[in-house]
Formats: sequence, structure tokens, C-alpha cells
Amino acid sequence: MLRFSIVMIFAAICTLQQAMAQEKDFTLSSPDVLVESGFLKFLLPRFSLKTGVKIEVQLGGKAGQAVFNIKGRGQPVMQGLGHVFYISVANGAGGPRYEKAQRFVTWLLSEVGKRTITQFTADDTQVFVSAKSTAVEQTAVIFEGNPTQGGVLALANCGRCHVIGKANRMKGIGSSPSFAVLRSLYDWQERFETFYLRPPHPAITQIEGVTDPFDPSRPPAIYPLFLTSEEVADILAYVSEVKPADLGAELIVHQ
Ligand code: HEC
Repeated sequence: MLRFSIVMIFAAICTLQQAMAQEKDFTLSSPDVLVESGFLKFLLPRFSLKTGVKIEVQLGGKAGQAVFNIKGRGQPVMQGLGHVFYISVANGAGGPRYEKAQRFVTWLLSEVGKRTITQFTADDTQVFVSAKSTAVEQTAVIFEGNPTQGGVLALANCGRCHVIGKANRMKGIGSSPSFAVLRSLYDWQERFETFYLRPPHPAITQIEGVTDPFDPSRPPAIYPLFLTSEEVADILAYVSEVKPADLGAELIVHQ
């Protein structure tokens, strides 16, 4: 039984490494525990979507440009699974790989990074608290995308199912919540940033450089959505300007 689970974990790690070894921008070393918990699989695509930066994960203490560690090197990031985890950027010659590693570290320590870390759950339970969770800064959310362009993209891509605004007020399909309703949820931003991971979208959505290709044995049932990270940012900027629906009572949308 023990041997079986070790084989399973090893297989899972190999698959993850293979998936991440396709063009990478820098290498992240990590203690095995972060990979086995599924945390990196949760965290890294969210960072990559934002930045287009792709990360290769290196196990077993081999040096990468950025290093997750439990040895107190660098800055404390989070606590959980019996450890405090730190992140450091390795001393190197500089250059683009180190710049991208630094960008990842900056993101991890930002409010968005911290929020992402605390959103990771196992069995519906939060796994990590951020290391300095006392310093809650209220920073205004700035959307970098172009809302006008985002409206055009949303109508063409999302408007097939969702009412995105006045542009297709009567056209959505019943099972898809309107953007105004989604916009009224306190975590709308998180939902839109990760829509491609939330059913039914994974089966029909490709985001350039972020999602894995469709499984050839299970082609999408409808004409798929092909978007870049920049286009998702434009859609997010558009959604940020959608007036939230006034629902009176709190609406329950299943997770
Ligand atoms: C083929 C139809 C279809 C298309 C196209 C589509 N969606 Fe959806 N979307 C749905 C359905 C159905 C749901 C409700 C899922 C549920 O409640 O489980 C949904 C839910 C969502 C949610 C809420 C998810 C959650 O877990 O709360 C977001 C955000 C979202 N869609 C964004 C988008 C964006 C952005 C696009 C365009 C880029 C898009 N969708 C395109 C069908 C679609």
C-alpha cells in the first residue's frame, strides 16, 4: 500500500514536471511537499495567466532561479502543512530569468498573491495562512486591460451563453449567470480571473500559453474559445465596469 502510494506520488510529480517543462521562463525549486499537496498546480497557472510567465518546477533541492524553502532563506510567505515557507531569488548573474523569478516573488508577496495562497484548499479547508497576514493593505484594484476591447471580446466569446450587458440583453442561455449577477458577487474578480478553470469552461477554452491542449480523444463539443492572457485582461477590465445586478438578498451560486 505504501509502495503503491509512493509510485502514485512519483507518477503525479513526473506528469507535473513534464507539463511544466515545455518552454519555461525560469526554474522554481520547491520542497516536495508543496508539489504533493497540489499547491503549485493551483498557484502557478494563476500567476502565468496574469503575467504570461511560465515556470518549471525543480524538485529535490536542485537550484532554480527562485527557491521555495523551509530553511528560513529569503522572505517568509506562508505557514501551513507544518512549516513556514520562504521564498528567495538565487544569487546569479542577473538576466531575464532572474527578473522573471523576481516578478514571481513580488507577486507572491503582493495582496493578490497572498489572496491566491489563502484560497488554496484541501478537502474544503484552507491550507495556508500568509506569513504576515496582519498587514492588510487596501490597495485600489487597477485593471490593465482595455475595457472597450474587452466588451467586443466578451460579446463574441462569452455572449454565446452569458448576457454580458446591454449588447445582448435577451440573448443569454438560462443556465449561464449574467455578467451583472456575477459582478455582484464579492469574489467576482477571482471568478473571472479563473473562469477557464471553472466548469463548463475547461472543456471549451484554450488560453494561449496557459492551458494544456485539449485531450485529442475528447474534443470540445462546441466551437471552442481561443484567447490570450491579454484578451482575458481586457475582458476583466470590461467586467470591472459592468454595473452589478441589485439582487436584494445574497445570491447563492454554487462553487
Ligand atoms: C458554452 C457556454 C458558455 C460560454 C461560451 C462561456 N460560459 Fe461562462 N458559464 C457558463 C455556464 C453554464 C456557467 C454556470 C456554471 C455553474 O453554475 O456551474 C458559467 C459560469 C461562469 C462564471 C462563474 C463561474 C463560477 O464558478 O462562479 C464566470 C466568471 C464565467 N462563466 C465567465 C465566462 C467568460 C469570461 C466567458 C467568455 C470568455 C464565458 N464565461 C463563456 C457557460 C459559458
